[in-house]
Amino acid sequence: MASRGKWGSRVGFILAAAGSAVGLGNIWRFPYITGKNGGALFVLIYFGCVVVLGLPVLLAELAVGRATCKNPVGAFQALRPGAKWHYTGYLGVVTAVMILSFYSVIAGWTVGYCCKTICGHFAAPGRGEVAAVFSAFIASPWLQIALLAFFIFLTVFIVSRGVAAGLESFARVLMPALFLLLLLLMGYSLTLPGAQKGLAFYLMPDFSEINGRVFLEAMGQAFFSLSLGMGTMLTYGSYLKKKENLVTAAAWVAVLDTSIAVLAGFIIFPALFSMNMAPDQGPGLVFAILPEIFAKIPGGMMFGAFFFLLLAVAALTSTISLLEVPVAFLIDERNWPRRRASVLVGGAALAFGIPSALSGGGVKFLSRLPLVHVDFLSLWDKVWGNISLSVGALLIAIFVAHVWKTSRALEEITAEGVRFRLARLWTIAIKYVCPLLILVVLVSQFF
Ligand code: PFF
Repeated sequence: MASRGKWGSRVGFILAAAGSAVGLGNIWRFPYITGKNGGALFVLIYFGCVVVLGLPVLLAELAVGRATCKNPVGAFQALRPGAKWHYTGYLGVVTAVMILSFYSVIAGWTVGYCCKTICGHFAAPGRGEVAAVFSAFIASPWLQIALLAFFIFLTVFIVSRGVAAGLESFARVLMPALFLLLLLLMGYSLTLPGAQKGLAFYLMPDFSEINGRVFLEAMGQAFFSLSLGMGTMLTYGSYLKKKENLVTAAAWVAVLDTSIAVLAGFIIFPALFSMNMAPDQGPGLVFAILPEIFAKIPGGMMFGAFFFLLLAVAALTSTISLLEVPVAFLIDERNWPRRRASVLVGGAALAFGIPSALSGGGVKFLSRLPLVHVDFLSLWDKVWGNISLSVGALLIAIFVAHVWKTSRALEEITAEGVRFRLARLWTIAIKYVCPLLILVVLVSQFF
């Protein structure tokens, strides 16, 4: 156990778990998915998903992790030896590698945009220039691959150094700085002319827009943003000491994560509508809008560069947690040294990430091959970032409620005298509401 490492302190754990949760999911993915799904109604359903599905599953993952002190595969095996439940863990390990692969592409964009802002590419953009810079940027194959490789290298470097040292020191400084910068940007964005239209889009639900896809995307976004459904929080819980309070830890993570996403929306949508841009432009949304904002603020270039740097660090604390899942599996179950595990999984993520890195086009000699026109970035985001996480969360909920049993989970949650006032509500949620709701939303996609 000693060789697996433990969190240095309680605040360290909360910050590291929040560091995993807060990342591109909040600042890149949340605004683009909200924009694509019509705004306020999506936000409302998203909140519902965080409370009704996210929080219960988060607590369940932390409890399984701490009860077993194991990686996702080992944890299911320990609690139900000889059964097939550990395949849920394998699904998590594969999902982690695949999410890491495309997530690092976007993380590479933040690094690229940090450099571009410093170099003054956005100092005084003309009409349509920011969009043109973005298209040219994602259509540069070597640059995209280099940024992807750079980001995966950074992640591997940190993960290979081990848990407490590797993660806590990073999480400690980042979160407050990012929060502050987001608040400042929000203040600016809300005062732009025409910001009200953006606020209306973001805050006034239009119930005629409701459909099954909105539910699937809101549910997937809740799991993605809270790092659930593939054993990240399970793995992080496994490094947690018995005396820590899982309930308050879970609540803190959810509140921090959701408030950062909400803040990001308050920056993007007022600015977007003030500049007469379309909200449904997909994954490039924030990269099209942020440079426009920075160009208008006095000293905006320095500000912008710092912002993209912080965003890159926020992405890094998330990629670290993604890599930690397969690495913990290889250390525990295959007795691999941490270094070798990190390097090998990082290499695999790099290889799988290349199709996503090339999604912006730009490789002429490939353009005659059949599969090249598939937008792998969006496809992987949907398959692994949404469906696979939802299936994983469904299996974890069923396992905890009906195989391991809620009474045992509650014993773990309330170990060492911790009080859990909402125990009954949690039991109902994890036993019935989570499995049924996730299943209904997933199955409804086929009709
Ligand atoms: N939650 C991270 C974000 O919002 O950026 C992304 C993520 C990390 C998803 C870890 C899943 C995961 F297991």
